[in-house]
Amino acid sequence: MIKQNLNTMGQSFQAEIEKAENVDEIDIIKVKYLGKKGKLADLMKQLKSLDKEEKIEIGKQANLLKTQFQNQIKEKNEQLKRIKFDQQMENEWVDITLDPIKTQMGSSHPITMVQNKLEFIFESMGFQVLDGPHIESEYYNFEALNIPAHHPARDMQDTFYFEDGNLLRTQTSTIQIRGMERLEPPLRIIGTGKVFRCERTDASHDSCFHQLEGMMVDKNISVAHLIHFMKTMLSEIFESDVKVRLRPGYFPFVEPGFELDMACLLCKGKGCSVCSRVGWIELLGCGMTHPNVLRAGGVDPSKYSGFAFGIGMDRLAMMRYGITDIRPLHGGNLNFMRRFTLK
Ligand code: DAH
Repeated sequence: MIKQNLNTMGQSFQAEIEKAENVDEIDIIKVKYLGKKGKLADLMKQLKSLDKEEKIEIGKQANLLKTQFQNQIKEKNEQLKRIKFDQQMENEWVDITLDPIKTQMGSSHPITMVQNKLEFIFESMGFQVLDGPHIESEYYNFEALNIPAHHPARDMQDTFYFEDGNLLRTQTSTIQIRGMERLEPPLRIIGTGKVFRCERTDASHDSCFHQLEGMMVDKNISVAHLIHFMKTMLSEIFESDVKVRLRPGYFPFVEPGFELDMACLLCKGKGCSVCSRVGWIELLGCGMTHPNVLRAGGVDPSKYSGFAFGIGMDRLAMMRYGITDIRPLHGGNLNFMRRFTLK
């Protein structure tokens, strides 16, 4: 009777293990046949009722069956593992002979490159890089810069006003005042960013463009300091020894004020189509900071003096890269942008 049980157990195990499709199912079969309360354990309990010889014989057979079950379970587990691995290989194979997927590298905008380079140049000369808001009060944009409400200089920088009286800044010179308010002299600061004007757009004008502003305040600052820093900046940007000249220029926040020209790099000052045959290129406004401006920034003009300058970065980028129209520089044409790099 017990012997027959052993046989049927062997057969049902065989059938079940063959059907099993995954590790979980095998585990269930394992518990069912080999577990502490499993079928084999049950059968072993029944051995007690048998006589000695039968006990030995059936016991032996039961043990054989046990090892057989164990081996088959192990084998089946391995088989399933192999099948799973083969499936994985089938699903995840990669054709290493295919061309790689092409990724597109981004690059910086030409104005950003010029801005980064300028910031780097001035930082290396001990200048701090400051930032200022695009939406400004009339005070920071005009009044504190010695341009009172009635002053005609406001006309030249017409801009976009908000209902609360604030405006989009027309110049980064606002950063001079904000810088002096924040820092004690001696100070060396620059600020870069967007400025806005109510301009008609053409090849060299846009209603939004970019400026770099700089200021140095210390004891006994003179025009010689100004010239030195301007020459250094331009020589670094244009990667050649640049010749400059100053002409008188009027800006309410400097006295004296200058227009700084650079000797045309193409014709070396002889005159060509790039410099309209004059040999010089108008580049930036600068001058010695007006005492009213120093006072507005909380600096005593009897102790300190300073210079300031402002330069259009769009123009600088155009000159650096030989771009003749400002509009594509502010457009979104990536093919155009990708042509430019700067060390
Ligand atoms: N803010 C002037 C402008 O936008 C440029 C300028 C001229 C800035 C002279 C200066 C300066 O700091 O001293 O036209």
